Amino acid sequence: MARISEQTIEHVRSRADILDVVSDYVQLKRRGQNHFGLCPFHNEKTGSFSVNQSKQIYHCFGCGAGGGAINFIMEIEKLNFIDSIKHLGERYGIPVEIEGGSGRPKELIAQISETQNVAVKYFTNGLTIKEGIPVLDYLHKRGLSDDTITQFQLGYSPNSWDGLLNILRKEKFSAEALNQSGLIISSEKGYFDRFRGRVMFTIQNTAGKIVAFAGRVFKGDDPAKYVNSPETPLYIKSNILYGLWATKQKIREEDLAIVVEGYLDFLQLYQSEIQNIVAVSGTAFTDGQARELGKFTRNVALAYDGDKAGISAAIRAGYVLLRNGLSPKIVNLPEGIDPDDWVKDKGSKPLLDAVENADSLLKFHFQHFKGDTSNPSELAKFSNESLMEIAQISDPVNREVYVKTLSEITGLRDATLFESLDTLLKKQRQRQPTQKSDKTKESTLTSKSSRSQRVEDEIIQLCFVKDQTVRRFLYDNLDKEWFSSTTNKRIFDVAFIHLHSEFPPDTGVILDGLTDKNDIQKLSALIFEIEKVSSDLTFAKDCVIRLEKDFISNKLDKLREGLKQNESNNEDVMSIITKISELQKEQNLIRNKYNSNEK
Ligand code: UTP
Ligand code: MN
Repeated sequence: MARISEQTIEHVRSRADILDVVSDYVQLKRRGQNHFGLCPFHNEKTGSFSVNQSKQIYHCFGCGAGGGAINFIMEIEKLNFIDSIKHLGERYGIPVEIEGGSGRPKELIAQISETQNVAVKYFTNGLTIKEGIPVLDYLHKRGLSDDTITQFQLGYSPNSWDGLLNILRKEKFSAEALNQSGLIISSEKGYFDRFRGRVMFTIQNTAGKIVAFAGRVFKGDDPAKYVNSPETPLYIKSNILYGLWATKQKIREEDLAIVVEGYLDFLQLYQSEIQNIVAVSGTAFTDGQARELGKFTRNVALAYDGDKAGISAAIRAGYVLLRNGLSPKIVNLPEGIDPDDWVKDKGSKPLLDAVENADSLLKFHFQHFKGDTSNPSELAKFSNESLMEIAQISDPVNREVYVKTLSEITGLRDATLFESLDTLLKKQRQRQPTQKSDKTKESTLTSKSSRSQRVEDEIIQLCFVKDQTVRRFLYDNLDKEWFSSTTNKRIFDVAFIHLHSEFPPDTGVILDGLTDKNDIQKLSALIFEIEKVSSDLTFAKDCVIRLEKDFISNKLDKLREGLKQNESNNEDVMSIITKISELQKEQNLIRNKYNSNEK
């Protein structure tokens, strides 16, 4: 059977953004945290088809269609899984090789990785040749030591069109690997080096593997200050933070990450012994980066440049961190100064003090709000702006904490703010009328079983919440046989091995593990509304208790039914009665089971 390597699937999955994929077929408009449009899978006049980018799923509240990007292509192009991956591969320029046992895709990745290793030698060597002498000088003048230059593999790309190209050619890399290395540009006239006459920064992934480069202009009149590697199979920009490979340990120890904007900010601070840092490299902070950083600490201090652009970028980054469950603060830098200059001129102390005195995100946002907040309508505008962001936090407790803070900052009563937040959340939900398709399916069920159906659904949602203890609890205590819905049973089965991991299961991975369309649609619908489930452990325990109770009471119902039919046969009756009383005992003990677990 034809197969595609896991790596390729993963690559396609991480590149094929749901919004991008769906936008090729459906005109989408943003409303709140979702995008809406007319469903391509059924006839409708109002848009009940919605896409959630941060969850990477689509869901139609009208017909129940749903899934991830790959599912969408399968449905709309009527392709099987493998052909959908191929289709997306073409769309995003990712080579998808079907494995006939040759294992070539792996080889390609390895080759691309090797091109980076060859390149780093070429660039670091660039600092030692004559042409590179002024560059090394420049780096020294910027305050960087030889140790720093060596450790972070700074370099210089000589001003040549084919210096690196010729070396790579001699190494006999495949054309495919050259094309995808990000180091070479192919044009009508042929191939040439992407990086020429630039100060080179080596970009490594969290594990320390070289995945890309950035080149800063040196002299010359090139208008592009930085030239960066494009995305490649190795370099998925939205997941990479510069320097994290070197600082992750320090970040964990200090339980705080200081985030700066530039490579040079990073290097200057690192050298001044401020080593719990990373650089975002000038791009907007992404959810992927927040998740990556969240593996090492929940506490983040954003030390962005003290100019207008830096301030607004810091606020945006702060909210990205916030909605990913991290706790952001913003460091006040003197106007017009960046961390690099500051530390170079004044040493590390002023910056460290500023980190110590960093403002909470909300306070900082308030202080830098463009309107005049002593004017009531501007104040309302500010609090609504902030509440919209707070509404995106999935954990209700966290949401409450931030609403309280907002109340302190604005002087508005927290009851008022909660009311506003509720309206916002309700509006979000109204736009997403609750799972129509499921409802019609379930309307035939009795109210008792529809209640237990809800508990089952909530448990599936709990499998995907951020709180690890909740997922761990399910992993340790739940028996999949307790599910009465076969759909839920199958979803749980696929998610199960991921539950003991530190991070919530990747929805994309789970969706790909499901084959039945109903299962895929059900999971998408549940994930779409995951904010509705309360994600604390007490609630999880209650759900599990109710599930097990329902499971036993279903068994009891069946036994009692059997009792009626067997009234004539004494022996059977006796054994059924014994079973019933055993089950009743079991049922009574369920709650204690978890309470004693705690002690
Ligand atoms: P800066 O303009 O602050 O650059 O951009 P810098 O690295 O501090 O350089 P100096 O101090 O002016 O020499 C901050 C970061 O934004 C990204 C780079 O990662 C840079 O380090 N950036 C900036 C780009 O990717 N492209 C650009 O054109 C500019
Ligand atoms: Mn700078």
